[in-house]
Formats: sequence, C-alpha cells, structure tokens
Amino acid sequence: MEKILVKLGCRAYEILIEKGLVAGAGPFGAAVRVAAIAEGARIAFVSDENVWAAGGAAFFEALARAGAGVFPVIIKPGEASKNLGGLGRLADAFAEFGLTRGGLVCAMGGGVVGDLAGFAAATWMRGVCYAQIPTSLLAMVDSSVGGKTAVDIPAGKNLVGAFHQPSLVLVDPGLLATLPTREFRSGMAEVIKYGAALRMGLFERLEKTDCAAGASSPGFDGIIADCIGIKAAIVEEDELDKGRRALLNFGHTFGHAIEAKYGFAKYTHGEAVAIGMRIAARYGEAVGITEPGTAARLCALLDAWGLTAEEGADGLIELIGKDKKAKGNAVGLILLTRIGEAAIFRTPLADVEAGLAGLAAAGQRRRTESAAESAGTPEAAAPMDSAR
Ligand SMILES: NC(=O)c1ccc[n+]([C@@H]2O[C@H](COP(=O)([O-])OP(=O)(O)OC[C@H]3O[C@@H](n4cnc5c(N)ncnc54)[C@H](O)[C@@H]3O)[C@@H](O)[C@H]2O)c1
Ligand SMILES: [Zn+2]
Repeated sequence: MEKILVKLGCRAYEILIEKGLVAGAGPFGAAVRVAAIAEGARIAFVSDENVWAAGGAAFFEALARAGAGVFPVIIKPGEASKNLGGLGRLADAFAEFGLTRGGLVCAMGGGVVGDLAGFAAATWMRGVCYAQIPTSLLAMVDSSVGGKTAVDIPAGKNLVGAFHQPSLVLVDPGLLATLPTREFRSGMAEVIKYGAALRMGLFERLEKTDCAAGASSPGFDGIIADCIGIKAAIVEEDELDKGRRALLNFGHTFGHAIEAKYGFAKYTHGEAVAIGMRIAARYGEAVGITEPGTAARLCALLDAWGLTAEEGADGLIELIGKDKKAKGNAVGLILLTRIGEAAIFRTPLADVEAGLAGLAAAGQRRRTESAAESAGTPEAAAPMDSAR
C-alpha cells in the first residue's frame, strides 16, 4: 500500500492508495479505519446513486459491520446536486439521524459528492471531520486532496465554500472499473496537466503508457499516486491557494471560459481543461514564453488519451474578464516554459485579447491548410472513411 502524508500540522492527514482497498473492505480494511475516526459517534455516508450501485452500498455495509452507527444520504448524480439546496438536504438528513460534533461525514463518490459533503462537513455544527473515498479519476487525483469544498450558486461555480481538510483519504484505483469512459478521459486531462505543468517525468511516462488499456494499463496505479503526491506537496506549501497552488490551474483560465461559453453543457470540466491547455500552450509559444514544439507534443498526448476536441480562441476574452481569478484589468495566466515547468504571468486583458486574436488567425490558417491538404490527397482520406 502507498501512503502519502499531507503535512499540515494539526490538520495533517494520510492518503492511502491501493487496488482493492475499499472494494475488499474486510474486517481490518478501510471500513475499520473510517469507523475508528468517529470513535463510536454516528457516521453520515454520502454518495450518489451511480456510485451507490457500483460499490457504495457494499462499502456502507462494511462500515455497518465495522460497528459504526452509519446512515446513508444518497444524492442524484451530477453537478446539479452541488448547490445550496443540496447542502440543505444534507443538513436536514444529518439532523434527522443525529450527527453530533464528534461524528463523521464519509464522502464516497466523484468531485460532486466530495465537494458537497465536504462543505456540509465544514459547516455542520461549525465543522465536523470527514473522510474522502474518491471514485472518479478526477476525484482521486485532484478534488479529494487539498481541502477545497464548495457548492455552486446561479452566479457561478464553487462561489460558496470553505477550506476544510479531510481526516483521511482512501484511494482504490480498482473502483475506476465502473467509471464511464467519458469521465475517465476527463480525469486524464487533470493527470496530463500535472505532467505538463509540474513533472516532466510523469509526462514522459504518460507518453509511453498504453492508452487503450486505460486504468488497467500497467503502472496506472503508480501514475495516480504520482499525481496525488504532486498535489499533496503543493497543498503543503500553499494550503490557502495564495501562491504556488495556482500552478494547478494550468489550462483552467481558458478552460473555464470554454465551459461558460457553452453554458457548462457541451463539455465536461476535463474536456474543457484539455482544450484550455492546448490554447495556453499555443499562446505561450506565440508570445515567446513556451519552448517551441511544446504545444505539438502536448496536443499529441491529449489526442492519444482521447481528448481530441478543439475550439477556436475567439469570443473567450469577455468570459476570461469575468473569471473569479481575474483582478482589475489583468489575469494571472499559467503558462508553460517547457514541458514539466510552469509559471504565473500576470497579463493585462488587452494583451491576452491581442494574443488570442493572433491564435484565432493562426488556427484559421491551420484549418484552411489541412482542408487543402486532405482535398489534395485522396488516399489520405480513404482510411478515415473506412475506419469510422
Ligand atoms: N475540491 C477541489 O479541489 C476540486 C478540484 C477539481 C474539481 N472539483 C469539482 O469536482 C466536480 C467534478 O467531479 P467529477 O468529475 O468526479 O464529477 P462527478 O462527481 O459528477 O462524477 C462524474 C460521474 O461519474 C459517476 N461516477 C463517479 N465514480 C464512479 C464509479 N466509480 N463508477 C461509476 N460511476 C461513477 C458519477 O455518478 C457522475 O455521474 C466539479 O463539481 C468540480 O468543481 C473540485
Ligand atoms: Zn480542474
């Protein structure tokens, strides 16, 4: 079993990573560890309907067998549950089942369950402990670690929230077996982000991994552990997101704008971040910050992992100006200097606008050239027609 300690003084906690850790929660397994945190007080088990069916119910039973006074709170899957109404429903359930200050919230699910249950734990009786059992790839490598909890309001995503670190995080990569492919790919965008912005070795490992086998490819558990290690180290340095933690937002300024452009309906978060990383890398090259060739290498890796969508950069600037991270007339852009290295560049919105206009023109040229090329080479078009 891999153990990562997030060293945050009195808020320190362990992340345990092992295939079968949760699914095989026997007498000395994960359920006992979770039950031990509550020390006999009640446990609220929060999950969503999909995860409940895919292994949540079994873990709930294991918790009950471990002697915990546990009650289930099962929400509808999806972002629409992560709002103040959802928070209210959790609080009502906590009250009904008698969750006390010594009790525990156990969040088993993707980032939606983790963020909502985490925020409920942060606010219930002014704060109770919570444990995270992430079940989506995104939640394993990103949202379950670091203590950011929040709900959405109509004015924007994650606008009402709190920093509240979990007491324990249990990561079982075996749970990914039931995760839908689209959700797996979305999580891969965050995995590729860690490599591109922070760890060249991870990026190279991803280039050599058998993408077709997905989570079953040899060494994939180690890739998950690497990402968690990178995130844990950054959270230790900058728990409250006032400095270096911003590097984890590589691709996100443009990605958030793309999510917003389509009313959060066309792309998943990870798909939008993948497009955002493409734009950020091309932008960085165009303004002379990113080593030439980086964008092509990053785009090739995204393509290989099935994150193939492309979007023009036009129409994004107004949305970037509205981003909660924009200050005054400038925005902190995370740009790569080379693969594995990123920095924050505070850039006037007017400069971003000019840079994006240049990219839009270059993108138009690229599209025209590739259309002309495929029109001129009929043999290149044939395999595509027959294969798809
Ligand atoms: N707190 C943070 O630091 C942080 C970081 C990144 C993202 N987030 C938040 O995370 C959320 C997105 O998380 P997500 O992508 O996990 O979405 P999600 O929680 O909606 O899960 C995606 C879908 O997969 C299903 N699912 C999850 N695990 C499954 C499994 N093992 N088997 C079968 N189905 C499964 C869910 O039911 C859901 O339908 C967003 O709200 C975002 O704001 C938070
Ligand atoms: Zn993200």
